[in-house]
Amino acid sequence: MKRVFSGVQPTGNIHLGNYLGALTQFVELQNENEALYCIVDEHAITVPQDPKALREHVLDVAALYMAIGLDPKKAIVFVQSEVSAHAELGWILCCAANTGELFRMTQFKAKSQGKESVGAGLLTYPVLMAADILLYDTDIVPVGNDQKQHIELTRDLAIRVNSKYGKDTFVVPDGRFMKAGARIMALDDPTAKMSKSAPNEKSRISLLDPPGKIKKAIMSATTDSEGCVRFDTENKPGISNLMNIYSALTGKTIEELEGLYAGHGYGDFKKDLVEVTVNALTPIQERYQDIRQSQQLIDDLHDGAARADAIAQKTMKRVRDRFGLGIGR
Ligand code: TYM
Repeated sequence: MKRVFSGVQPTGNIHLGNYLGALTQFVELQNENEALYCIVDEHAITVPQDPKALREHVLDVAALYMAIGLDPKKAIVFVQSEVSAHAELGWILCCAANTGELFRMTQFKAKSQGKESVGAGLLTYPVLMAADILLYDTDIVPVGNDQKQHIELTRDLAIRVNSKYGKDTFVVPDGRFMKAGARIMALDDPTAKMSKSAPNEKSRISLLDPPGKIKKAIMSATTDSEGCVRFDTENKPGISNLMNIYSALTGKTIEELEGLYAGHGYGDFKKDLVEVTVNALTPIQERYQDIRQSQQLIDDLHDGAARADAIAQKTMKRVRDRFGLGIGR
């Protein structure tokens, strides 16, 4: 049985990109593997957060996890800060990382660009992510494309530590990426990835958006003037992105979609995509409301944290011994 680990930041607006790039994989992988899915609140505080809102968002994401089909009896679902070993291993790995490799991270460059000073957590963030993964002897990390560089860093750190402290200190993990959903682009600008923080609400579809809002966002999505439903990410990034979304939501291949919409304009395609999206999200939204209010959710998260902590403590004992930390037992 393989170990799977992944996480999502509790920053609101969980969108179709998160869903199709990562969350659908979580559900698929929980059956045949020992899966851990985390709500990474310690990552969220790398940028300023309102404490009350952060706690709400943690529960929002946890409820969404369950609503999309995660089963807390199969997968371990928990909140990062409830298992203190994440921060502890994060520190130890900081001492194995080089500042140069952290300054080279694309996400750090993007988030710090033009700013005179940013929090140090923004720089060391990928090391905490590596700690999340390595703490559980993870084999597989299901994520979207934008996390590729962070997975590479995790692998580099694991290999570096293993070569110094013993080859089985850490398991070297692999990223797992979807075909159609790995990089969902913004609806208003298909050259930028769909993101939680973009100011234009119509740039994304959040999982809890009502049908009217989904319709507006899709019908106004940027396409091109050719009017032909053809996949070409370079010259037709807008319609190609919508085709990726359609394909990921229905399982229809891109070739099937091209055949299905030959001779049809973008209007027909978009109308159908609205229906496909609403049909996919409505059952999630219905389940979400009940789960979000339930005591069961809190109980499941406590249980998940205890199960995660038991695994984490074993790894930490090994790591402390290898690094010569503490006085041993
Ligand atoms: P986060 O919270 O930004 O995103 C959660 C997941 O959604 C994927 N994703 C996308 N996939 C396709 N298209 C998009 N437009 C899109 N936007 C986001 C992300 O790749 C991610 O899989 N650093 C991580 C959280 C994290 C983590 C971890 C993940 C912390 N520790 C350990 C895996 C393992 C992040 O900020 O994801």
